[in-house]
Amino acid sequence: MEVELKRLEQEAESALAEISRVDDLEPFRVKFLGRKGLLSSAMRQLGQVSPEDRPRLGQLANEVKQRVEQSFEEKKAAFVDSAAINRSVEDLSLPGRILPFGKLHPVTQVMEEICAIFEGMGFAVAEGPDVELDHYNFAALNIPEHHPARDMHDTFYVSESILLRTHTSPMQARIMESQDPPLRYIAPGKVYRCDSDITHTPMFHQVEGFLVDRRVSFADLKGVLTTFTQRMFKDDLALRFRPSFFPFTEPSAEVDIACVICGGSGCRVCKRTGWLEILGAGLIDPEVLKMVGYDPDIYSGFAFGLGVERIAMLKYGIDDIRLFYENDLRFLSQF
Ligand code: PHE
Repeated sequence: MEVELKRLEQEAESALAEISRVDDLEPFRVKFLGRKGLLSSAMRQLGQVSPEDRPRLGQLANEVKQRVEQSFEEKKAAFVDSAAINRSVEDLSLPGRILPFGKLHPVTQVMEEICAIFEGMGFAVAEGPDVELDHYNFAALNIPEHHPARDMHDTFYVSESILLRTHTSPMQARIMESQDPPLRYIAPGKVYRCDSDITHTPMFHQVEGFLVDRRVSFADLKGVLTTFTQRMFKDDLALRFRPSFFPFTEPSAEVDIACVICGGSGCRVCKRTGWLEILGAGLIDPEVLKMVGYDPDIYSGFAFGLGVERIAMLKYGIDDIRLFYENDLRFLSQF
């Protein structure tokens, strides 16, 4: 009887160990633990053993039954656990979840594109301070004391001699002052003017460009700007140089491109002129060269300043500059 019980226990344990499917649990229970199962019938045989052996064998039979029952419960619990794990595992056949991905701001993208085009023509990139001295923003650029550009309505003053730069042109003076020609630089950055409507924001971006060397002429300026606008917009884009005035260039010009919306026939965007103004430029005024210690009889140069938002608006057909600064992702994520 004792041997028989031990053998039964071993048989039950090894049968349990081999079970790998939930469906095999119930047949096992019926076979070993059921009312007509092997353990129950072994216990029924206790009636035939001698009364002296009965208590000891009865206790042994109960212990064996309890151990097998416990093993069985553990096995069942293990199946429940792994089923839970299986349910929580990703279904690898599902398509992946697309995480929202940040993008560069359209103004940054256009600025980088502008810089890349000029870098391709050998220009180096330099950046300067947004908070600028009056000296570099105005005086060093031949803007006399009472020039309207100094008007409080345009300039944000920090103190009497410190201001938020109103253009990137101070970088001309800063670089020329610290280096000798030949120079070929662009200076991208933020500029500030006290102005706000559908084509003006108090902060906007410019890219300044200038080149100083011997015998630099207006033809060089035209060549560089024609190459730039054609690379930026399209290959056969027409360009127009209109006489203009800046205190730090002489002669000066404003440069228009054929309207990229109507192709030059006249529309609302170009105000029926067929042309769009995109930048200011000119040959650096000899007075400016003299102030940084260059001899204008030896050196000459050209400079230009272009508005980044303006170019971005024309490139993408955006009619309100303020859209760039409202941080509406529905707008910003289109670029
Ligand atoms: N700084 C001028 C402006 O902001 C543009 C400019 C730059 C004109 C360089 C001529 C030469 O309007």
